[in-house]
Amino acid sequence: MSKTAGVIAGVGLADRPRRSVWPARMDLAQSASGLLLGLFMWGHMAFVSTILISHDAMWMVTKMFEGYFVFGRAFPAIVSGVVTIVFVLFMTHALLALRKFPAEYRQYRTFLSHKTLIHHGDTSLWWLQVVTGFLLFFLGPPHLYQMLMHPDGIGPYGSADRVWSGLWWPLYLVLLFCVELHGGIGLYRLAVKWGWFEGSDPNRSRRRLVRIKWAITVFFLALGLLTLAAYMKLGYERRDRVGEIYVPAWVQPAAPGGGR
Ligand code: HEM
Repeated sequence: MSKTAGVIAGVGLADRPRRSVWPARMDLAQSASGLLLGLFMWGHMAFVSTILISHDAMWMVTKMFEGYFVFGRAFPAIVSGVVTIVFVLFMTHALLALRKFPAEYRQYRTFLSHKTLIHHGDTSLWWLQVVTGFLLFFLGPPHLYQMLMHPDGIGPYGSADRVWSGLWWPLYLVLLFCVELHGGIGLYRLAVKWGWFEGSDPNRSRRRLVRIKWAITVFFLALGLLTLAAYMKLGYERRDRVGEIYVPAWVQPAAPGGGR
């Protein structure tokens, strides 16, 4: 028997009885990383939308993450540390999700014809999640890299200048829709997959879950669009004073290298 045949035969036969636990472990890791990213995005939206309350409120949230109220001065590197963790989680989730993407043309054709044929809500949601996930591969990293390398650029004026004069708003607009649709569908599919909130009548709770999912997605899209509009408006008003640093009226002038 030729050496190759031996190896192929050996590998196949030898492994057949034991089913690998790795696919299940990767599914669990994908769910866990997706859940963490989804919850992070809810927090993220709460923090960046403080610009809707006031410049001072957004300044205070930025300072809080930089340790200003603990150490008495700002350490933007703390934010870079948080971004690093989110970036690794983002890449891990993307790598694990790649397994679920149809790998070849025939698989796409089969899936799309099934989707059109059966017209099933969850199947269409899954396709929307694949498309938004694909776009997030490209739209997420520029934002994360910017936040990783320039955490000191976050603030009422710094963020507004970046969004308007830095022309980041088109990326944020598409990224906002992608991340809210993808995250919302992801959390819904997690609840269905792991049977959370199932109750005695699974069909009825599934219908309720779909309604809750869309309500949450619409809420975060509306909040995100209002927030983006606020940064764009402030950035437009300040377009000839780009780079000015925001300091609340009640803050004493900080030591050199202090607040923004
Ligand atoms: C720790 C990591 C992150 C930090 C520190 C961060 C920080 C910020 C800040 C300060 C803004 C306000 C605009 C600006 O300053 O440019 C912003 C906006 C935004 N970020 Fe992030 N971000 C992080 C991760 C993410 C991730 C992972 C996503 C999605 C994949 C995301 C999506 C967005 C979107 C869509 C906006 C626009 C929000 C709006 O105006 O509606 N961010 N982020």
